[in-house]
Amino acid sequence: MPGPWPLTAERDDAGVLTIAGVAATDLAREHGTPLWVVDEADLRERCRRYREGFPGVDVAYASKAWCTVGVLQIVAEEGLWIDVASDGELHTALVAGVDPATLILHGNNKSDRELDRALEVGVGRIVVDSLDELERLERLAGARDHVAQVWLRITPGIDAHTHEYVRTGHDDAKFGFTLSLGLADEAFRRCLDLVHVEVVGVHAHIGSQIFGTDPFIANAEVMLDLLARWRDEHGVVLTELNLGGGMGIRYTHEDHPVEVARYGKAVLETVAERCDVLGFPQPRLVVEPGRAIVGPSTLTLYEVGTVKPLPGLTTWVSVDGGMSDNIRPALYDAEHEVALANRTSDAEPHAVTVVGKHCESGDLVREHAPLPGDLAVGDLLAVAATGAYTESMASNYNRLPRPAAVLVRDGQVRPLLRRESLDDLVRRDIPLS
Ligand SMILES: Cc1ncc(COP(=O)(O)O)c(C=O)c1O
Repeated sequence: MPGPWPLTAERDDAGVLTIAGVAATDLAREHGTPLWVVDEADLRERCRRYREGFPGVDVAYASKAWCTVGVLQIVAEEGLWIDVASDGELHTALVAGVDPATLILHGNNKSDRELDRALEVGVGRIVVDSLDELERLERLAGARDHVAQVWLRITPGIDAHTHEYVRTGHDDAKFGFTLSLGLADEAFRRCLDLVHVEVVGVHAHIGSQIFGTDPFIANAEVMLDLLARWRDEHGVVLTELNLGGGMGIRYTHEDHPVEVARYGKAVLETVAERCDVLGFPQPRLVVEPGRAIVGPSTLTLYEVGTVKPLPGLTTWVSVDGGMSDNIRPALYDAEHEVALANRTSDAEPHAVTVVGKHCESGDLVREHAPLPGDLAVGDLLAVAATGAYTESMASNYNRLPRPAAVLVRDGQVRPLLRRESLDDLVRRDIPLS
């Protein structure tokens, strides 16, 4: 089955989709739908492929992709660092028992509270995003009589040709110090005067769901050139280089991302060659994948609630979740492969449009999904590669309780997230009388 499906996904003799030997029908019956099903073996395997594909490199999981205690525990067990981008993500990592020294704090508008908490717990690195933040960090670290070790987030002027909303490396971006406008130089010069901020390296993340290696190679070259120039101009050698995340994954059979091993080789060779040319000592490298770690491990199970064929037009198939548990199709025109999960069928496939139950026409699960012509109310659908930027972007739109998530491994099921209840939905509400 695999393609975009978790590594242990297959069909049993009755044609039912199974993950780690557990039938989708059993999961739906016991845990309800919508349901995120995480293949633990797949998740661990993705972590290992990164560590093997990037030997000698620190791999940090970008927790924005899916930040829940159980996921962070697994990723940390596999030896990955963790990048957090808010005090909420930081708190989750601490609750998961992650060593703060292996945490990286990101964010283009970190609050004083977030910075101070990072200093208090001793996160490994803070990625400074703006001149304002540098001044704030100097003040806050000074108040604690502490020296914060930071990377400067550089906007390297690389257009990664991905969706506009996930491009971050081009000049006119909200993130980081724009290299071409001299902001990176200004930030570096300012750091040299600071007492409580020590710049030890640079960081650049150029975007997400990128399929080729060229943008990553260009990013490494631009950053090493910058480090070498700063050495020449200021006599300071920065020893750490974080090249961000962004490698794409398969959402459908048509997607063909580069294997981690090839991506790692391309980056490491580029760094070695460029360092040689520049006479620059090889820096300690960090990469920060998010989507590629958690995305492929997970599928979502939904139950079909209505089938509405409009003759000569579209057949609309409504499921019991939608944009509140996966905003990606609405936000990025993303496509996820969809499969009938509770049975196989010999019926001729028809292109149907699978939609959610929300009050929005844009509430798509998948347009033109080729599904068997006998698809019926009560069938189960599985949607592939829903581990990244789904639960972490989930909402309660239309006051839908957020789904449960389970972890499956060797025929065993463990809960990761309980389903929200109706009472959860009104827990924060304050009646006026
Ligand atoms: C700073 C940073 N690093 C890493 C990532 C992870 O990107 P991806 O999930 O595409 O690997 C992101 C995603 O937005 C990011 O902003």
